[in-house]
Amino acid sequence: MFHLGWFLGNGFGIQEWNIAAGDGAYTSTNATDWMKPDLYIDLARSLERAGFDFLLFEDTSMIEDTYKESMEVSLRRGFMAPKNDPMPLVPLLTEHTEHIGVIPTVSTIQYPPYLAARLYTTLDHLTGGRVGMNVVTSVSDRVAQNFGFERHLDHDERYRMAYEWIDVVHALEQSWDEDAIIADPVAGVYADHTKVHTIDHRGEFFSSRGPLNTIPGPQRRPPVCSAGGSPAGRELAARYDDTMISMCATVEDMKEYRADIHRRMIAHGRQPDEIRLLFLATPTIAATDEEAEAKHAAKAQWRTSDAGIEYNLWNMSYVSGGRIDFGAYDLDTPVEQIDLSRGNGEHSSMANLFKGSEGRTLREIAGTSHQTTDLGLIGSFETVADKMAEIMDEVGGDGFLVYGPTTRQNIIDYTDGLAPVLRRRGHIRDGYSGVTLRDHLFEF
Ligand SMILES: Cc1cc2nc3c(=O)[nH]c(=O)nc-3n(C[C@H](O)[C@H](O)[C@H](O)COP(=O)(O)O)c2cc1C
Repeated sequence: MFHLGWFLGNGFGIQEWNIAAGDGAYTSTNATDWMKPDLYIDLARSLERAGFDFLLFEDTSMIEDTYKESMEVSLRRGFMAPKNDPMPLVPLLTEHTEHIGVIPTVSTIQYPPYLAARLYTTLDHLTGGRVGMNVVTSVSDRVAQNFGFERHLDHDERYRMAYEWIDVVHALEQSWDEDAIIADPVAGVYADHTKVHTIDHRGEFFSSRGPLNTIPGPQRRPPVCSAGGSPAGRELAARYDDTMISMCATVEDMKEYRADIHRRMIAHGRQPDEIRLLFLATPTIAATDEEAEAKHAAKAQWRTSDAGIEYNLWNMSYVSGGRIDFGAYDLDTPVEQIDLSRGNGEHSSMANLFKGSEGRTLREIAGTSHQTTDLGLIGSFETVADKMAEIMDEVGGDGFLVYGPTTRQNIIDYTDGLAPVLRRRGHIRDGYSGVTLRDHLFEF
């Protein structure tokens, strides 16, 4: 059996809405209703019916303007903006569901550890133990500038900051002993003060005295997730993650990736079975193989269109951490002439985008190379169910993180087309035997 998660790659932002720019015919009221809870409630309820472990909200706090040094494309096309804070949505979604977990993203440059530990502990209570934290270091200078920095820290330094951040959050989550709460109204004693401890942390990036001023939630330590595939990102996952967003283009890469994370975990005194690696994929599925192939061909064709190329150049500029404006180059520029080493954003995404780009022009790369992959998952529900199972057999686990698009039609394809086939064949869960998100991740 393997696990399934759903990735909202544009967070609590405007979901696929733009028919004119290739988002398809089923955009419904996304353009006008994205900021309301309805679509996400429908999504969460559908994913729960299908047996997903969780849905995960990306988050980024800025309006991107690297591409052509302007917010024009971001705002005209609704790329990454507008976007709401996902935190208040979490208990709304768990109120409308019974089992599924919700993982909102938290940035280590936006939240001091105390604020994050208190917020996630509160969410753990409000959701009955169904929240997790996707820990990111933020990618671009623009986010850093919204939170008091002049520019973003260098890549590896901000990971060092993130390690310390998680250590402090975990220390705060442990600042109340298991038996600290007495809650005896007859004796009039709420807590035993000898069992609640300061943490007195003074480190390179943070200080915090503690203890946390709320009691541990049902999970005590909400599961940690992260996405960085660079050596520093993998170290973070190996030290702390319970589940990881894993981005690989081939089955061979997936095997190597999983083995590498497991090796690193052992070096940190952890067991490989303490993590669930979910491989990011954007499959193309439909009722029949022909329909799926036609959808896939249309998507590939769209990617070479002006709108597709503009999107990719815009995205590459963001992924560089705001350091390379890919809109400043003639499209026929050979990629070798662009100094990619200036990037300070998503190192592994940049590497994937420009893999094998020698001798090719920016136009060719922008029209064909993409940050995400379908892992060859194209076809009818039956075809894709079989391929998913084959991949998992070969890789050894632990599941897939489906990356949209988040339209109701696509949601239904997954939850009421693909998932029943996977379930009938015994590849995914048939219900939830546990209560918390941690239970779901480690149920099998
Ligand atoms: C699938 C995926 C989801 C991500 N989600 C977020 C996010 O929500 N917010 C954010 O600031 N960064 C996000 N990132 C960036 C990562 O957290 C990380 O900073 C980035 O991938 C750089 O890591 P690397 O240099 O180790 O590859 C995401 C990256 C990937 C690949």
